[in-house]
Amino acid sequence: MKFFIDTADVNEIREASALGLLDGVTTNPSLVAQTGRKFEDVLAEIVEIVDGPISAEVVSTDFAGMKAEAQKLAAIHENIVVKIPLISEGLKTVAWCADRGIQTNVTLCFSPLQALLAAKAGADYISPFVGRLDDVGHEGMDLIGDIVEIYRNYDFDTEVLVASIRHPLHVLEAARLGADVVTVPFKVLGQLVKHPLTDIGLQKFLADWEKVPKP
Ligand code: E4P
Repeated sequence: MKFFIDTADVNEIREASALGLLDGVTTNPSLVAQTGRKFEDVLAEIVEIVDGPISAEVVSTDFAGMKAEAQKLAAIHENIVVKIPLISEGLKTVAWCADRGIQTNVTLCFSPLQALLAAKAGADYISPFVGRLDDVGHEGMDLIGDIVEIYRNYDFDTEVLVASIRHPLHVLEAARLGADVVTVPFKVLGQLVKHPLTDIGLQKFLADWEKVPKP
């Protein structure tokens, strides 16, 4: 399973990258706004830190506008994946990008049928938002299971990128279901590493090592 980090904060990306297990980055307009920086500046820095897919989202909602943005974003760096919302105009743009070799990540997916359409349009990634479904009383991970099953039935190449992750159990369940990618907030990445028994065990080993006669 690939691990992406879901942030536009370059300090977080640098720290996560130093762990040696980061495969890519996802951003969105809200995450970019939190940085208080220009989008182009943020992207220019991210592509220098991570050598993997970096999702950058369009903000137009019409075909012409999305095409223009997709072209502009894709020209920044070969690792840029254009993030496109799951609306009709978005699907048109995904098909247009696929014909031109521009990579896409279809975002704001909340149903298996939306995911099916995105795959048919030629998306490289589909981003189902599990946390936001949980927030409104639906089991977000059920959506992942459905999409994985449907994509497997028809051998779609579109990768299932589990998004809107809120806690480690989302990551565990995504792995059990065979999702291709998880995009994890920095905080959750830290939570995945930690286990109290690891810390207690390490303390004990180090304390015992003090009792070993040294040369
Ligand atoms: C996905 O690519 C989005 O950037 C993100 O996962 C949304 O997460 P949120 O629901 O916590 O805002």
